[in-house]
Amino acid sequence: MTSQNRIPLAGVIGRPVAHSKSPRIFRHWLTHFGVKGHYIPMDVAEQDLETVIHALPRLGFVGVNVTIPHKEHVLEIADLVSDQAALTGSANTLVFRDDGTVHADSTDGHGFMENLRSNAPDWDPGQGPAAILGAGGAARAVVASLLNAGAEEIRLSNRTRARSEILRKEFGAKVRIHDWNEAGDMLKGARTVVNATSLGMVGHGRLQVPLRDLSGDAVVTDLVYAPLETEFLAQARRIGCQTVDGLGMLLFQAAPGFERWFGIAPHVDDQLRQAVLS
Ligand code: ATR
Repeated sequence: MTSQNRIPLAGVIGRPVAHSKSPRIFRHWLTHFGVKGHYIPMDVAEQDLETVIHALPRLGFVGVNVTIPHKEHVLEIADLVSDQAALTGSANTLVFRDDGTVHADSTDGHGFMENLRSNAPDWDPGQGPAAILGAGGAARAVVASLLNAGAEEIRLSNRTRARSEILRKEFGAKVRIHDWNEAGDMLKGARTVVNATSLGMVGHGRLQVPLRDLSGDAVVTDLVYAPLETEFLAQARRIGCQTVDGLGMLLFQAAPGFERWFGIAPHVDDQLRQAVLS
């Protein structure tokens, strides 16, 4: 069998990986488009990461998604790192090229933007300040994509202030830091509000930022999608804000990988959401 008629394989590498929703997303698209291909979850230890990544193309893999805890480490293993991945400081999508090279990309920022654009069509990141809670890996992708989309002011608050300061240093003066115990103050006049912490997720602590200064014309999104409507989103909805749940970001970030590996641009629709939630 030549490499041309091999059945293309893709998958997700992480540890743990059993909880990943990516296999459901990709299996839905593979079935929907009648693509002869497979998407496989792979639990890989840190010390095996490089060996595994170099072995996968020989097994017929055309690429993989990468999840926690390997998203940063893969940048060192890849032969080519996209601007987006370099900016985000991590990669979630690897493409194995025919010439044997490994290309790393980050589609988290794309997922974040497409989720807001498709669920809040009138939203414009240049309309006013954005307030972001959190300064971890996910927040970094959000900051990069908002600045890229024309945001003029990004207010950032994180429990560990030093992490906010790293982002300010990297992204410049448009990023303004607020103390975590005064995070509620940065919501005043904010037009985009993002929870990029893990607070509010099933099994994690509560997000207890007071929303008294949040105005009803803000678009509010939460990167947490379990539960689908977090307490934070429910409160914002009651204030009158347009709210966007975090599941869409997960679905949209997967689309570029599918297109690169299997040659078809997939859509994110309600059928896909239901397939992932069921
Ligand atoms: P991710 O890649 O998902 O962003 P991360 O880099 O571990 O994951 O970041 C998690 C975010 O949730 C951080 O902003 C973290 O704050 P710290 O930088 O202070 O750790 C935030 N977070 C997690 N648990 C928290 C808690 N109990 N209180 C406040 N913030 C919390």
